[in-house]
Amino acid sequence: MPINFDEIIERRGTDSVKWDLFSTDILPMWVADMDFKVPEPITKALHKAVDHSVFGYTMDSKALRQTVVDRMKKLYDWDIDESWVVATTGLVSGFFAASNMLCKPGDGYLIQTPVYMPFNQIQDALGFIRQENPLTPIVDGNKLRYEMDWDNFNAAFHRDGHPTKMFLLCNPHNPIGKCFNREDLKRMAEKCVEEGSVIVSDEIHSELLLGENKHIPIASIAKEIEKNCITLVSPSKTFNIAGLFCGFAIISDEELRKSFRKTLDKMTLHVSGLSFVAAQAAFSGDCDPWLGELKAYLTHNRDILVNYIDTNLPSVITTIPEATYLGWLSFEDQVAKGMIGSDPSDFFLKRAKVVLNNGAAFGTGGEKFARINFGCPTSLLNEGLGRIKNSLLKD
Ligand SMILES: Cc1ncc(COP(=O)(O)O)c(C=O)c1O
Repeated sequence: MPINFDEIIERRGTDSVKWDLFSTDILPMWVADMDFKVPEPITKALHKAVDHSVFGYTMDSKALRQTVVDRMKKLYDWDIDESWVVATTGLVSGFFAASNMLCKPGDGYLIQTPVYMPFNQIQDALGFIRQENPLTPIVDGNKLRYEMDWDNFNAAFHRDGHPTKMFLLCNPHNPIGKCFNREDLKRMAEKCVEEGSVIVSDEIHSELLLGENKHIPIASIAKEIEKNCITLVSPSKTFNIAGLFCGFAIISDEELRKSFRKTLDKMTLHVSGLSFVAAQAAFSGDCDPWLGELKAYLTHNRDILVNYIDTNLPSVITTIPEATYLGWLSFEDQVAKGMIGSDPSDFFLKRAKVVLNNGAAFGTGGEKFARINFGCPTSLLNEGLGRIKNSLLKD
C-alpha cells in the first residue's frame, strides 16, 4: 500500500521544537524535521524494545556497525570495515568532538558559507578560528545555484597564520541543497591532504536525494583521501528520527579513530539504547521502499515550491535543491525596496504567520535569505506559500 504522506499528523502538544514553540495560528516551516510518520519497521523495532521493558546501558553492537558497512556498500559501492564505525549522539556532537580532537587554541577550521548554523558556531562555542570560503552565488533569472570559489578556497587555508586543522564539509550542503560533484570533491580533498587538514564530512542529508541526483562520499574517492577523513552519516534526517539522536563516524585511520573515541569518552557522549534500535531498523534496508516513496514526494514538493515562486513570486530568487527538504529563498529585491526588513523570517513570522529560518544565521552570504522546510504534506506547503504570497501583497 502506498505511504500516505498527505496525512496531517497533529504534532502540537508533543513538545515538538518545530510546532510547540509558537501559537496555534502559526505554521512552522523551519527546523529540519519532517511532518511524516517514520517507516513501519522502525516503529515495530521500537515497540519490540519497549515491550522487552528493560532499559539498561547498551553499546553499538557489531551487527549494527555491520549494518552501516552494508549500507555504504549498497549505496555507494564504498568498502569500509566494521571496525571503522563509531557511534555518536548525532552529527553535531560528532563534528564538535572532531573539532575538539583536531584543533587546539589558535587553530583554524574551514567552512563554506552559507552553511548549517552550528558550523558557524564552533568559533563561539569552542574558540577555534573560523576560516571561510563563501560559495559563489550564480543567479540566472530567478534561479540560484552556487559554485566553488577555488582561489578563495586555496587562500583560506592557514589564513592569518592560524593553521587549518579541519575542513568541515557539508555534502549535500544545507541550506543550498547542493550535491558536490566528484571533480569538486577530489579537488577539495587533495588540497586538504596537501595542507595537512583533516576533512570532517557531514553527510547527514546524503540519502535525501531529489530527482536523479547522486551522492558521493568524499572519502570513497581514493584511499589517500579516505585516510584523511572523518565521514559522518546518520539515518536521522532520512528516516525522520532526528529526535532520537544517533549517528556514525566512519574513520579508516586507526590513530584518528582512537583519538576520536577517546574524545567522545571524555565528553561522555553516550547514545541511547532506543536510538540504536531505531538506527539499526532504519539502515537495515527494510525501510528503503518507504524511502523511495518519500524521495518522490519530496521531489514533487520541491517542484511545487519552485513553480509557485516562478508563477506567483517571480522577484524571489530560489535554488532548485538537489537534495534535502530545504528551500533557500533570496528576498534581496524585497529588502532593497523596503518591503521587508533585513530579516525576512521576522517579517514572515509577523505578517504571514509562517516560521522560516533566518538566512543570516547560516553565516556569510545568508543575509536577506530565508530557509523553508518542505518536508511536510503538500497541503501544508501550499498553505505556507499562500500565506507568504499574501503577506507580500499587503501594503
Ligand atoms: C548538515 C547538518 N548536520 C547536522 C544536523 C543535525 O544533526 P544531529 O541532529 O544529528 O546533531 C543537521 C540538522 O539539520 C544538518 O542539517
